[in-house]
Amino acid sequence: MKILLLGHKGMLGSDLLSRLSEEHYVIGMDKEEIDIVSADECNNAIKDIAPDIVINAAAYTNVDACETAREECFAVNAEVVKNIAEACRNKKNRIIHFSTDYVFDGTAGEPYKEDDQCNPINVYGESKLVGERYLQSFSDNYLLIRTSWLYGINGKNFVQAILTKANAKNFIDDTMAKAKAKADNPSTLSVVDDQIGSPTYTKDLASAVALLIEKNARGIFHVTNRGSCSWHQFAVKILKEAGFDKIEVIPIKSNELKRPAMRPAYSILSMQKFIQTTGKTTQPWQLALQDYLKDSKLQN
Ligand SMILES: NC(=O)c1ccc[n+]([C@@H]2O[C@H](COP(=O)([O-])OP(=O)(O)OC[C@H]3O[C@@H](n4cnc5c(N)ncnc54)[C@H](OP(=O)(O)O)[C@@H]3O)[C@@H](O)[C@H]2O)c1
Repeated sequence: MKILLLGHKGMLGSDLLSRLSEEHYVIGMDKEEIDIVSADECNNAIKDIAPDIVINAAAYTNVDACETAREECFAVNAEVVKNIAEACRNKKNRIIHFSTDYVFDGTAGEPYKEDDQCNPINVYGESKLVGERYLQSFSDNYLLIRTSWLYGINGKNFVQAILTKANAKNFIDDTMAKAKAKADNPSTLSVVDDQIGSPTYTKDLASAVALLIEKNARGIFHVTNRGSCSWHQFAVKILKEAGFDKIEVIPIKSNELKRPAMRPAYSILSMQKFIQTTGKTTQPWQLALQDYLKDSKLQN
């Protein structure tokens, strides 16, 4: 199949490009080639390339910045989806689009199913939900994949942030005077323990997308790595796997961080529909993390 992949340089987009190119002819476009906010540019790209599938992996993903950059956030996460859906409807192309666990408010006591009530608690989540609604209204041939807590080789992510901090602290341990190091308490990291979700490696998500394409799946699907944890538990595991045994991870509450955007306390997504449709599941997040760490080493 011929696939037009928008946002192919992003964290998920770059893994989609390499995975889907194994079976399909994929044309990637990112900011250098297209401004997806322009309806004309989207229309022309879809008309000229005439793909079987348009995949939109482009998004405005800085959750805290969305709180103040509301207009840009809605332009990229919502209006763009409408433009693509309209352009595709005329040409009968299929659309694959991505959304987030942040469309939910986090008050559920069990994993969210695809048709559960959405109620975002931050601007990013609101914009992604409007994008979802546009897709559902303007396209009758779509695959909408909600995912969560992404990390991948080609993007800024939580795993990388924790390792960067850990490396900096290790450096301090080796070089600074002990008294100063003690005063600064350099061997601790503070991470929130009151948000629960499913960390997801973009490489595994890209394989799941390939499977959903193979199965000709349509509608909404939840796809994450298996299992769940808090950010605190995730950080502890990252440091253990990377050999930073001496760094203590202190559990803190979200309100201590004073971040601009609120996050849902619980955002586990049910994978039942994916499992029933494909007959397969994804690997547990702990194994996915090991793969990511191996893959990052190979890259460096
Ligand atoms: N990251 C997560 O934890 C997470 C969780 C759940 C769902 N998702 C969803 O998963 C999808 C992929 O996320 P991601 O983290 O891989 O995103 P990402 O790394 O931020 O990549 C998005 C890509 O879109 C490009 N882009 C942004 N605005 C554009 C524009 N106007 N024209 C053309 N390209 C533009 C970006 O370019 P620049 O980098 O130059 O801006 C970037 O290459 C998104 O739909 C996101 O909402 C992400």
